[in-house]
Parts: sequence; structure tokens; C-alpha cells
Amino acid sequence: MFRIRAITKAVRTRTFHTSSTQLHDAAIVGLHVDGQLLMPRSIAADGKESLTSLVKAAGVKGKAGESRVLYGNFGLGSDIQKVAVVGLGKQGTSAAAKDRIRMAVATGVKALKAQEAKDIGIAGMGHDQAAAEGASLGLYNFNQFKSGKKGAPNDVKISALDLESPNEVQAFEYGVIQARAQNLARILMETPSNHMTPTLFVERVRKELEGLGVDAKKLKITVRDRAWAEELKMGAFLSVAKGSDEPLRFLEIEYRGGKDGDKPLALVGKGVTFDSGGISIKPSANMGMMKGDMGGAATVAGALYGIAALQLPLNVIAGIPLCENMPSGKASKPGDVVTSMSGKTIEVDNTDAEGRLILADALTYISKTYKPHTLVDLATLTGAMDVALGSAYAGVFSTSNSLWSELDQAGEEAHEAFWRMPLHSVYLPQITANTTADLINTGGRSAGSCTAAVFLREFVHGIQRDDGFAKTEGEPTTEVGKPLEEDAGEDLKAGSVRYAHIDIAGVMDTQSNSGYYAKGMTGRPARALIEFAKRISSK
Ligand code: BES
Ligand code: MN
Ligand code: ZN
Repeated sequence: MFRIRAITKAVRTRTFHTSSTQLHDAAIVGLHVDGQLLMPRSIAADGKESLTSLVKAAGVKGKAGESRVLYGNFGLGSDIQKVAVVGLGKQGTSAAAKDRIRMAVATGVKALKAQEAKDIGIAGMGHDQAAAEGASLGLYNFNQFKSGKKGAPNDVKISALDLESPNEVQAFEYGVIQARAQNLARILMETPSNHMTPTLFVERVRKELEGLGVDAKKLKITVRDRAWAEELKMGAFLSVAKGSDEPLRFLEIEYRGGKDGDKPLALVGKGVTFDSGGISIKPSANMGMMKGDMGGAATVAGALYGIAALQLPLNVIAGIPLCENMPSGKASKPGDVVTSMSGKTIEVDNTDAEGRLILADALTYISKTYKPHTLVDLATLTGAMDVALGSAYAGVFSTSNSLWSELDQAGEEAHEAFWRMPLHSVYLPQITANTTADLINTGGRSAGSCTAAVFLREFVHGIQRDDGFAKTEGEPTTEVGKPLEEDAGEDLKAGSVRYAHIDIAGVMDTQSNSGYYAKGMTGRPARALIEFAKRISSK
């Protein structure tokens, strides 16, 4: 698993602390719907009594979502005079029960913050990781651009009230890091595009990663520019970036927590810092949301932050193509044909289908250069994904049943759920017929998310094209251009890489402010990615 000392060090450099010697001024206590109050271990006997009777008098039932702030001196030591009693619903150890803890603690933290609490102790909720996640996620608020008092930094501290075993401490710290990773992804996404250009994205991520104090041999950041992309003949990526005056960046983050020579897990994230649509310009209503079109990049960066902070024992390579998609005299035009790094040519039918263009070259580069055993890309790729699944699930398109199942389990644990979608050659004709090039970047209205996924698959080296999911009788055998496997070499035979594309367009933002949700960009699924990395590393 991961090393506790490293975690503690990474976390202690910030405001976080675990000891119960803190002068907490407030605490959160959980109540199950069966009436069981989860008393802090350190509470005095008379405190227990008075808290119990106050909870009764307040009429709190323990239902999920309930929260009541009680005032008094509960013998919790130090200065605790405010206690938020939060409803946890039914007891249990399921992923749903853990999420009730996350939600409840977040609700409690918000209630106490509103009552000017400054240092909140969280009593054991039966699942310390979920409690810590709820607390840190619940404290998130994006007020960087508010002036005066409203823009004051968030100075509320959270820590565990009385954890005993190293396991409990570790779980709590794990949760704090998970939440920090997601909060980082949220900030990157929420920050307006004029403050989050490709250049500024790279700077911010570098600052966050370097702040972890991880050995430079274990965590390497490389930033590429346009000249590099030109050298590698990334014609697809370049064709999107060229409409903007903002220079493109390609960010590589290499984390070496595993053995030398172990193949890495590769994560690739779409980093369009603003998507106007380009010459195929989007309607102006809600166009501002497209500041979040680097959600793939943000969640991948957040995941790397978490993986490095936890010092997970595996190797990871992240590849993040960053640019703006803008209309201008230099922009790509519908009908243009570009040559991707893979050699395949692409007709740019719609300049608003830009995500697959920048990902095509990123996927080729990462799969060819780093020969990962598993390659997962994340992208706010298609509006059709939101139409299909809404904000309940992110869609996963995978060549691999085992990879799908690992992602599914990680998503359930983190309560950032995934739903499997078909990644299948049956959709190939939609992006290969009726074009003057090898591929066309739009597949029509039908199955818009599925044609985008099968487009991306064409650019992954060492891939097995179909793998048992949704196999149809007499499936089309259309092959596009030269199959990538042919020139792949010894260690990159077809099937040597497990591939998944995750379309996060539907889960990019939320309208909810309840529990740990905050209206705006979600940073989903940063936590599920870390959970996934942890699971495949401890195998
Ligand atoms: N970034 C958008 C997809 C998107 C839409 C994400 C809404 C989040 C919310 C993407 O670049 C895009 O514009 N896709 C087009 C593709 C089409 C032109 C084939 C779309 O979905 O309309
Ligand atoms: Mn677009
Ligand atoms: Zn886009």
C-alpha cells in the first residue's frame, strides 16, 4: 500500500493536522437513524449525557441530510462549544453509506463555518476517509475573484478529533489528499480562461506539484511548446491551436513510484482552456461554460497531485495537450485536411470537434513513447454524452473488460460513477465514409459520443480493436489507413495496452450546492482516478 510517513509529510506542510491536542472550537458528531450517536472517544461522561439529551431535545432524527448546530460545553476538552450533529441515515459499510458520511460531514462543516467556527474537529464516523473527504470538499469555495471580505481566504481548519490507530490516521489523511486533488481540479476548471491559459495552467500545476516536496527523481514535469509539436508533426493538435494568440503547451508529468522498468499507467487529459468552437463558432448562450473544457486536463493533473502526495507504488505518465480553440484569420477552416502525428489524415469538417484532434496526437505520442500497460484519457468531449447520461455517470468506452471493471469499482468507491458505453468498429463507417481524408472529425448526430470514442481509438498504438463488449454479428471490418500495430515493434503488439476513453462532458458541472457539492465545475472524477491508481498499484 502507501507509506504513511510520506503522506504525513506531504500533508503537514499545509494547514492540515491530525492531533487531538488542537484547540478545536467546534466539532461534528454523527447520528444514525437508529438513534446511535457516534460519540467522540475523548468526551467526558457528563458531556456524553448532555449532548445526548440536547440532540433529543433538538429533535434530530439522524436522517441523511439533517444537520443541527448545538451550543454548550460538552466536555470535549479545549474550547469546543459548537457541535454540529449530522444525520448519517442507515448504518452500513457500502459505498452508498460512505457517501452519506461524505455528504453529512460536508453539511456539518458548512453549518459550522456559517457560525464562524475556525477549527473543526471531526469525530470518528466509522469511515475516516469519507469523513475527511466530506470535510475538505465541503470547505471548497471559489472566491478568488471576489474583492473585500467576500474574497477572504478560507481559514477554517479541519482535523480528526480523536483517532487512535495508525490505520485511522492514514485513512483520514488519505481522504484529505483525495479532496485536495479534487479541489485543485475544481479550481483549474472554474478559473476563467483569461486566468487559466495553457501557460498559466502549466504554471499552476507545477506550483502545486512542487509544493508536495516529492523527490525530483520521482516526480518530473516537462513542458513542451509549439516547436516541439511541429517537430513531432502533431498536425492535428497544431491545427486547433493555431487560431489563437495564446501559445499551446503540452504538459508531461512523470511519476515514478513503482519499480524501474515497470510499464506505466498513462493518463491523457483534454486541455482546451477555452472552446469557442473556432470558425464553427458556438452559440453565445452559455459559451462561458467552455472555460471548463480543460476538465480532462484538470482531473488528470488533480489525480497526479493525489498519486504523488500519497506516494502510490506505481509508475504513471500524464500527457496533457493544452490550447485554446478560437476563430481568427489563422484558424483552421471546415474542410481543411490535416496530417496527424500517426500519419493518418483527418478532414476537419467541424472546427468545434477539436477535442478529438488534440487528443489524437496526444494519444499517439504517449502510447508510442511510454508504452503504457493501461491508457486512460479523460475529456469533456461531446455534448451528446450529457444528453445520454446527464450528470449521474461519466461514460467509459473501453477495449478491455478488466479495465472497465476496475474503473467501475473505483468510481463506485469514490461515488463518481461510471457507465460503460460501446467502443466498437460498428461506428467506424460514420467517420471514414464520405471524406477526402482517412478520417473525418464528425460522425453526424447519431451516436455522437460513440463515433468520437472510436475516432480516438484509431490513434492508440498497440491496441486491440474490439474486446468482447457489444460484439455484433457480422461487424464491419473497416480498417483505417495502416493499422498501427504493424509498425509497433516487439513490446507493443496489438492488445498490449488496455485503453479507456472517459467522456466527462455530462459531469463537468453541477447545479447542486448540497453536501460536498458546490455549484459550478466539479473536478470529477479526480478522486475515482486516484482510487483506481491505488487499486491497480496494490495488485
Ligand atoms: N467541448 C465540447 C463538448 C461539450 C459540450 C462539453 C457541452 C461540455 C458541455 C466539444 O468540443 C464539442 O464542441 N463537441 C461537439 C462535437 C460535434 C461538433 C461533433 C458537440 O458535442 O456538439
Ligand atoms: Mn468544441
Ligand atoms: Zn471542446
